[in-house]
Amino acid sequence: MIPQDFIQTLLSRVDIVEVIDPRVPLKKTGANYQACCPFHNEKTPSFTVSPTKQFYHCFGCGAHGTAIGFLMEFSGLGYVEAITTLAAMTGMEVPQTAAVARMPGQQESSLVDVMQRAAQFYRQQLKRTPKAIEYLKRRGLTGAVAARFGLGYAPDGWQNLDQIVTSYADASLQEAGLVIVNDAGQRYDRFRDRIMFPIVNQKGDTIGFGGRVIDGGEPKYLNSPETPLFQKGHELYALFSARRAIRDAGRVLVVEGYMDVVALAQHGVDYAVATLGTATTPLHIQKLLRHTDEIVFCFDGDKAGQKAAWRALEQSLAVVTDSSRIGFLFLPEDHDPDSYVREFGREEFERLLTASTVPLSAYLFRHIASRHDLALDEGKSAFLKDLQPLIAQVNAPNLALMLRKRTAELVHIEMEELTRLWKIAPAGARFIQPAPVRRPAPASVSHKLLRMVLFKPELGAELEKSWLIQNDDYAQALYETLVILSSHPHLDTAMLLEQSRNQSHAALIAQCGAEMMDLSEDFDVRPDFDLAKEQLLATVKQSRMRMLAQKPLRDLTEEDKNELQRLR
Ligand code: UTP
Ligand code: MN
Repeated sequence: MIPQDFIQTLLSRVDIVEVIDPRVPLKKTGANYQACCPFHNEKTPSFTVSPTKQFYHCFGCGAHGTAIGFLMEFSGLGYVEAITTLAAMTGMEVPQTAAVARMPGQQESSLVDVMQRAAQFYRQQLKRTPKAIEYLKRRGLTGAVAARFGLGYAPDGWQNLDQIVTSYADASLQEAGLVIVNDAGQRYDRFRDRIMFPIVNQKGDTIGFGGRVIDGGEPKYLNSPETPLFQKGHELYALFSARRAIRDAGRVLVVEGYMDVVALAQHGVDYAVATLGTATTPLHIQKLLRHTDEIVFCFDGDKAGQKAAWRALEQSLAVVTDSSRIGFLFLPEDHDPDSYVREFGREEFERLLTASTVPLSAYLFRHIASRHDLALDEGKSAFLKDLQPLIAQVNAPNLALMLRKRTAELVHIEMEELTRLWKIAPAGARFIQPAPVRRPAPASVSHKLLRMVLFKPELGAELEKSWLIQNDDYAQALYETLVILSSHPHLDTAMLLEQSRNQSHAALIAQCGAEMMDLSEDFDVRPDFDLAKEQLLATVKQSRMRMLAQKPLRDLTEEDKNELQRLR
C-alpha cells in the first residue's frame, strides 16, 4: 500500500502536460491543451488536458484521469507501476510500507480491493504449488508469460480465502463472487484446485477470474459470476495488457479462450484478446474499434468455432464502420489458436493470418450462398431473402451499398431492381432527418454543487452529507465526494479525482470535473455556490417539515415541535 500523502505530493510535483505531451503531442487551445484522443478513433480533437487542474478528459469517449490514470491507460501500467514511473520522473522514492493488516471492523473492504488481494493470493499459491507450475510448463508457458498475465493457482480446500480477509464472513467475498453461500448458509471458496486467470478491466483492476481444472474434471473452466464489478458482455480478456500491442500491430485478434491468448503471447503474437465464455457482443466490437480499425476473429476450427464466428459476424453488422475492417480466420479442424501457434510458431500463424483471413463481406456471402443453389431461381430467391435482413442492419453507408451491389451481381439482377425489391431509400435519405439537438438538461442543484466542489474542493467543507436527501446520481456522486473530503479536506482537484477512482460514481465525478475545464483558475464560483447551497438547504427544510408534519401530534417530541416552529 502506498500512502495517500505520498501520492498527493507526487501529483503536485509532476506536470500532467509533461507526462502526456511526449506520448500524445498536445496543442494549446485557450486554457487547456488538446489532441486527438489516443483511446478512441477520431478526426477532430476532443481529448483535453487541463494544466491547472492536472487531469485529462476526452469529450468523445469519456476517457479521463490524472497523470497516474493516463500512464495506466496509455502505457498499460498497473497502479503501482504508474506511480513508480512518475516518482522516477521527479526523483522521488516510493515508500515501501507493507500492506497493513486491517483491524476488525476498520473500513469495509471494497470489491476492487478484495479482488486484488485474491489475485495476489492466487499468484503466491502458484509459486508454491509444483503441480500447477508443471501444468503450465507442460502447456509451453514460461514463468515470464505467466507473470505477465498474473496467472495464479487456487489451492484445494474450502475456505482458503480466509487468509485475505479478517473475517471469512465478510460480505465482500460473496459480493465479489469469490465465495459461494449454499442453501444451508455454509460458505466456501468458489475456485478450488484451479489455474486462475485474472480478468482485468480498462483501469487495470481485477474484476473477475476464470479458473481451469488441472486434471480433467467439470466444468473445464469456471468463471466469476456477474458482479457489480464484472459484466461479461462488456469485458474482453487481456484487453488491458494488450492495448499497446494492438496499437502497434494495427489490429486485434479475437479468440475464444484464455489459453489461446496466453499461448499466442508466449509465441510473440501479443495483440490477442478473448471473449469471456460468452458470445461476442456489439459492445465488445465497439470497444475494440476504439483501439484499432482492424478486428480479426479467430475461433476454433471445429463446429462450435464456426458457429461462434457466424454469431460474431451477425453482431458486427450494426457496428461496423466504413473505415473498419472485420475479418475471420478459420483454422484447420482440430486446431485452436493455442495448438496452432504451438505447433507451427508465430511466423506461420501470422502468414496464415495475412493469407487466409476472410473479410466480413466475403464471409457473409459465402455463408449464405452455401445454404442455397444459386443456379436455380428458387435458390436465388431464398438467398435474397436470407441476405436482406442482414444487410439492412449495416449502418456504414458505403459498405451497405457495396454489399447490395454484390448481392445484385450474385443473382444477376440490376441494382435498380434490387433497390425496388428491398425498398431501399435513396442514398442519404436516412440522414436527412436532422439529429435531435442534444440540449443538456438543466443541471440539478446537486449537479451544480458537484461541479463547483470539483473546481474548488475546499468548498466541500461547507456542505453536509446529510443534506443530500435526493436520490439521483449526482447527489450520490456528491455524497461520495464529500465522504472523501471529510477525511482528506485539503485535496486538490486531481487528487480528489484520484481518490474517487474506485467510487461507484467515479465516471460522473470525472465528468463534472471536466465540465469546469474551460474556466480560468480565478473564476469566482462563490455567488453560484451560495445560491445552489441555499436551494439545497431549502429542499432539505421542506422535506424535514413535511416529515414532521406527517407525524401524529402525540408522537412529536418537544424538540420536534420546536424544530417545526423554527422551520415554519
Ligand atoms: P474451450 O473449451 O475451447 O477451451 O473453451 P480452450 O480455450 O481450448 O482451453 P484449453 O486449451 O483446453 O485450456 C474456450 C473458452 O470458453 C470458456 C472459457 O472462457 C474458455 O477459455 N469456457 C469453456 C467456459 O467458460 N467453461 C467451460 O467449461 C469451457
Ligand atoms: Mn485449447
